[in-house]
Amino acid sequence: MQIMAVVLAAGQGKRMKSKLYKVLHPVCGKAMVGHVTDTLRSMNTEKIIVVVGHGAEAVRSYLGGSVEYALQAEQLGTAHAVLQAKELLENEDGTTIVICGDTPLIREETLRSMTEWHGSRKAAATVLTASMADPHGYGRIIRDATGNVTAIVEEKDCSEEERRIREINTGTYCFDNRKLFASLAKVDNHNAQNEYYLTDVIRILNEQGERVEGYGLADPNEAHGVNDRAALAVAEKLMRERINLDHMRNGVTMINPEQTYIDRSVRIGEDTVLYPGTWLRGNTVVGRDCVIGPNSEISDSWIGDGVQVKQSVLKEAEVGDRSSVGPFAYLRAGSNIGSEVKIGDFVEIKNASIASGSKVSHLAYVGDAKIGKDVNVGCGAITVNYDGYRKHLTEVEDGAFIGSNVNLIAPVRIGKGAYVVAGSTITHNVDENDLAIARERQINKPGYAEKMRNRIKVRNNEEKP
Ligand code: UD1
Ligand code: CA
Repeated sequence: MQIMAVVLAAGQGKRMKSKLYKVLHPVCGKAMVGHVTDTLRSMNTEKIIVVVGHGAEAVRSYLGGSVEYALQAEQLGTAHAVLQAKELLENEDGTTIVICGDTPLIREETLRSMTEWHGSRKAAATVLTASMADPHGYGRIIRDATGNVTAIVEEKDCSEEERRIREINTGTYCFDNRKLFASLAKVDNHNAQNEYYLTDVIRILNEQGERVEGYGLADPNEAHGVNDRAALAVAEKLMRERINLDHMRNGVTMINPEQTYIDRSVRIGEDTVLYPGTWLRGNTVVGRDCVIGPNSEISDSWIGDGVQVKQSVLKEAEVGDRSSVGPFAYLRAGSNIGSEVKIGDFVEIKNASIASGSKVSHLAYVGDAKIGKDVNVGCGAITVNYDGYRKHLTEVEDGAFIGSNVNLIAPVRIGKGAYVVAGSTITHNVDENDLAIARERQINKPGYAEKMRNRIKVRNNEEKP
């Protein structure tokens, strides 16, 4: 039996008070609608149709060609939204999952078991329901004496008695595809909001003697829908707890998971320890036996095994095995750090490779550079890579020694095993094993300090009135 899906994502999301279209707001680094479509894709759905309206272009460019789209030009309600997928779906046999783009926490396992239940009960429709301590704002589930779902009543259409029902509609359903589209044609908008409610399909199918099931969620948090920023923060917290739990179960230590922020897409190896204030974002991969944090932000980076990162920021960087970074280092895009490299405090690296065994221990800037193996870059040394118009390359070959406070004015190359004396400003290439010194020669004047002090004393006395 083929499974199809319709994702409702055309509503404006007024209550978000945002320029950004509601379903594109990120939860743990991924747009809400992206969570929903990824979940659907992982359960091998034949077709995923996303109904777009407000912000249609933004949603299309975010999700790209991975799904199909139906346009709902005017938002006349959830039934009207599903109807927009008619052309793409109505002649298909199978089960159609309808899900909202603003419920990012629904799990794949839940959709799977609901779909199986739906099939085994030979139901025309199955509603995913949850029992909420506070059901306010959700549609209420009406069941008959035998437990069949007979209707869903929206909060605004509820009687006093119905309002007290705590079983709610999560907004996720399974339908027999043909029966869904046959019933949608019969939905009207005679209700408190003058909208075409998808929930009316449940009543219509029931009146036709079809079987309608309610499938209860074990964890009501999964049903959490995001309509405003407060709910967005709750979704973020729930998703964070879930992601962190997965990593801990896979062998990652978190000193305080509540202060450890990891995007869904991040991978982390066993026996890595994360200290509080660690953010791992985007397509970051962290190896085994690393110690990351406290207070470090690593985005779209690759970190090998046994790496230490303390109080540092890494963006589009690579760090090889057993290297250490920080405290207070900044590795910008294109930083390619080899293994057993030391990047120490207040060091900035940009678009530079630093091969294994090298040390940039303190207060240095290395930009647009190729640094070989076992190179020492001294304290305060910098690559002068920018002349105000263009960026230039600095090359330092294996085993070279760059003394403290050296300026390497690019383009420049320091040969293998060369030695650049502290305080030098290097404008010409240095050949292999040469020593370069480029600074004023020192002059010492014997006893001159004392002479100078005496002269100042005399002058001060003369100036007194
Ligand atoms: C809906 C359900 C309610 C359920 C709740 C769960 C209806 C009538 N009500 O209410 O029973 O408890 O979800 O969260 O279905 N949308 C469109 N086009 C439209 C209207 C909405 O695409 O014309 C989309 C929205 O973008 C959103 C989803 O459908 O992703 C749900 O719409 P929303 O207005 O949030 O419905 P609720 O009032 O939350
Ligand atoms: Ca909603």
